[in-house]
Amino acid sequence: MELPAGLIFALRNASKPLVLTGAGMSAESGVPTFRDAQNGLWAKFRPEELATPEAFNAHPQIVWDWYTERRENIAKVQPHAGHHKLVEMEQYFGNLLVVTQNVDGLHQQAGSADVVELHGNIMHSICSKTGRPIESDWINSNPGRPPASPHHPLGLARPAVVWFGEQLPAGAMDRATAAALACDVCFSIGTSTLVQPAASLPFIALNAGAVVIEINPVPTSLSRSAGFSLQATAAEALTSIMANLTDGK
Ligand code: OAD
Repeated sequence: MELPAGLIFALRNASKPLVLTGAGMSAESGVPTFRDAQNGLWAKFRPEELATPEAFNAHPQIVWDWYTERRENIAKVQPHAGHHKLVEMEQYFGNLLVVTQNVDGLHQQAGSADVVELHGNIMHSICSKTGRPIESDWINSNPGRPPASPHHPLGLARPAVVWFGEQLPAGAMDRATAAALACDVCFSIGTSTLVQPAASLPFIALNAGAVVIEINPVPTSLSRSAGFSLQATAAEALTSIMANLTDGK
């Protein structure tokens, strides 16, 4: 794809990159986004019925079964070229923090060394009462949907993801905010930029003077403010950027 003039020059003159990603970053691996009109999870399911502590307390089995299905789907997919290009970008810059809203672990699976998971990780489980981690061996060897928690007599196993109305993992947003204030280039890839506090990060970077590069096939609330807004898929844009960045054009 044709890249806007100045984008590669800006990247060549950067040294503190930050990458923010959302569900669109995993779309080309076959993981549904949330707000895509047809296939998005929230087009099919009501988030308040599945992604809140209240829903879990009211219907633990329904919520657990839904997350089990999502886990099984995610276990079948692989990182795509875009994930791998971010690993190449990490090598190019020598450092690259990836702050993701995604719970699928695909950045780590591709080899990204430094990943902050703002909304947790769907493959991990915690105790609904104490928040303490529960090993997958316990989950796989104890009946019940969900299994009881080994950490509390009234606790149940639940996915280690952030539900609506819940706090983000300790320190995650602090690290992300510090990186947004310090970066000189900030990518915002595959996010509708609607869910706070993650959606504030590219604007924090922008106000701190960073070059903001958005990658999304459709415009978002960030598009007009971003230095560069590439209306393309993650794989397409990152492949083109790395091809230009690394061949000295
Ligand atoms: P959304 O589903 O809101 O937005 C996904 C964005 O990715 C949309 O703007 C799409 O246009 C774009 N997109 C789709 N395919 C793409 C591709 N191949 N390449 C690049 N972009 C693509 O997902 P998020 O912004 O991640 O939170 O949603 C934020 C949070 O809302 C999620 O983490 C989840 C959800 O509720 C919690 O559950 C706490």
